[in-house]
Amino acid sequence: MGTPGTGMAADIAEQPEVFAGLLEPAHADPIAAVAAAIVRRRPRHVVFTARGTSDHAALYGAYLAEIRLGLPAGLASPSAVTVFGARPDLSDALVVGVSQSGGSPDLTEVVKVARETGALTLAITNNPESALARAAELHVDVAAGHERAVAATKTYTAELMALLLLVEGIRGGDGRVPADELRTLAALPDLATTALADPTAPDLARRYRFAARMVTTGRGYAYPTAREAALKLMETSYLPALSFSGADLLHGPLALADPDVPVLAVVGGGPGGAAMRDVLARLDERRADVVTVGPADVAGASARLAVPEVDERLAPLLDILPLQRLALALALARGENPDAPRGLAKVTSTL
Ligand code: F6R
Repeated sequence: MGTPGTGMAADIAEQPEVFAGLLEPAHADPIAAVAAAIVRRRPRHVVFTARGTSDHAALYGAYLAEIRLGLPAGLASPSAVTVFGARPDLSDALVVGVSQSGGSPDLTEVVKVARETGALTLAITNNPESALARAAELHVDVAAGHERAVAATKTYTAELMALLLLVEGIRGGDGRVPADELRTLAALPDLATTALADPTAPDLARRYRFAARMVTTGRGYAYPTAREAALKLMETSYLPALSFSGADLLHGPLALADPDVPVLAVVGGGPGGAAMRDVLARLDERRADVVTVGPADVAGASARLAVPEVDERLAPLLDILPLQRLALALALARGENPDAPRGLAKVTSTL
C-alpha cells in the first residue's frame, strides 16, 4: 500500500481532466445518441436506482429531470424488487441505474425487471463491461478512468457531468447539447482547477481534527452535495456526519445544532441559496459553527470553502471538490488512511 491519501488525492486532482474528457466528441457524441434515443421514446417519468455516492449523483439527476425537463423523477427502493419480489409497472418510465462499478446485483435486478415490464432502461457506469451496463437497453460510459481510492470522488463528478450532458441533450430536442450551453460547460474544467486550488480545506481539517460529529445541509441542487460530503466524511474519517436538506433541518434536527457541532452549509447564488437564508438565520440563533461552501461570504459564517460562481444547476460539479479535499485532509489529520477505509471494498454487493 502506498503513502496514505495519495490515491484519493490523485483521483481528486484528475477531475478537471475528466470533465474535459467527457466534453470531447469521443464521449459527448455517444451520450448525445443516448439522449436522442430517450427523446424518441418520450418517457413520462424517470426512476433512478443507485447506492451510496452514485445515489447522490442520481439525486442530482432527479433534480435536473424535474427542473429542466419537467419530468417527475424519483429514486427507487431496490428492496421492493429484490427482497419483496415486487414488479412495479414501469412501462412509461425511463429507469436509470447509476453505478461507478455497475457491479451491485440489486441495481442490475431492478433494471432487468424494469426492462421486462416495458421501461426504457439506461445504465450510467464507469464500466461498460459490467452486468448493469449489459442489463440495460442504453448505456452511458462516464469515462472517469481507474479510481485508485475506495472512496469515490472522480467517478461521482463524472456521473454528475454525464447526467448533465444527457439532460441538456434531451432538453435540446435532438440529443445534442445546444451550442450556448456547451460554451458554458466548456468552462467547467478550468473552474474545477480553480476550486481545487482553494487553501481553506486543509486549514479546516486542522481546526476540526477533534470534532465528534458534523452536520451538512443544502437545498435543491446543493442537497446531493451535502449528502455526498457527509458520506465522504463518514467513510474516510469515521466521523458521524448527518446530512439534511435545509428544509428538513428546520423540521427538528436543528435542535442538535450548537457551537460544538460544525455545520457545512452549501449555499449557491440562485434560488436554492436564497432558500437557505432562513436556515442560516436559525443556525445563527443557535450560535452554530457554520462553514459555508459557495461563491459568496455569508454573514455569521466562521469560514468559507470558496468555489467560483456558476449557475446553481452546474454548482454541484464544483461545490463537492473542496469538500472531498476536506474529507481527505481530515482523515489524514486524524491518522486514518482515506485510500483504504476499514471494512470497505471498492465494489459493494447488496441485494
Ligand atoms: C462511496 C462509495 C460507495 C459506492 C456505492 C455504490 O465513496 O464508493 O458509496 O458509491 O457502494 O457503488 P457503485 O457506484 O459501484 O454502485
